[in-house]
Amino acid sequence: MQRVVRKAVFPAAGLGTRFLPATKAQPKEMLPLVDKPIIQYGVEEALASGVENIIIVTGRGKTAIEDHFDVSFELEHQLESQGKTAELEMVRRLSELIHVSYIRQKEALGLGHAVLVTKELVADEPFAVVLADDVIWSHRPCLRQLMDVYEQTGHSVLAVMEVPGENISSYGAIAGEPVPFNGSTDVLYRVDDMVEKPPPDKAPSNLAIIGRYILEPEIFSCLASTQPGSLGEIQLTDGIRRLMEQRPVYAYRFEGVRYDAGDKLGFLKATVELALRREDLGPAFRNYLKSLQL
Ligand code: G1P
Repeated sequence: MQRVVRKAVFPAAGLGTRFLPATKAQPKEMLPLVDKPIIQYGVEEALASGVENIIIVTGRGKTAIEDHFDVSFELEHQLESQGKTAELEMVRRLSELIHVSYIRQKEALGLGHAVLVTKELVADEPFAVVLADDVIWSHRPCLRQLMDVYEQTGHSVLAVMEVPGENISSYGAIAGEPVPFNGSTDVLYRVDDMVEKPPPDKAPSNLAIIGRYILEPEIFSCLASTQPGSLGEIQLTDGIRRLMEQRPVYAYRFEGVRYDAGDKLGFLKATVELALRREDLGPAFRNYLKSLQL
């Protein structure tokens, strides 16, 4: 089996109810963090990691995502005739850089189901899953970090991070045995159990799954026979649990800062911190924040 990850799946069919009314007529993936839609952060991370093909799982009301990654002749023409070359470059780069396929998830049956509908497009090769709500700022792209683990182990790997015990019920939680990796003994785990959204007293650890995965194609047959679990949905965590019965699964404590852009407070934190890190906006924004009488 080749150890190159060429494809990344972006589940984006959710209704975005946590952001109503902003998401009534636009997809939550298109809400901007500073000046880029949430999903573009994940797409750029995948490209920076070496992924060549993006597969976006959409649903009703998501055409703005397709338009965003498509060529916009009218806009390009207007920018060109106004001599706005920097903006023109930016808009062109987006549609030129990536090869995107779209597939519809006709019913909202859960994250595991969203991944399952990409079976034909992914075919028989390892692939990445990116949950765009999890925006990750890091020195080395988070997906690239997972791909390094995959290239060494040849098995599925999930991103994890420690969360306060009382918050673990918002995540998939794993239990695992540490295995040495590049001289460290506390970054890579061989997973021996995982539970989707456990009550804190039933959680196997406080290592939470974050939305970056490298999965072997055997996941598809596992998902096809996974019954609805937490929230009555077909959960990706439950599918990976089945995969674990056949093949090793690893969890990697990635380097980086993760923002939950799918949550209002997390979205605000991401907006502030990403703006502060921007060369063009950061200094002025920092001065403004300092001037606030908090
Ligand atoms: C999903 C996964 C969960 C994971 C989380 C990370 O949950 O099901 O295992 O911990 O993403 O963001 P969701 O946030 O979609 O409820």
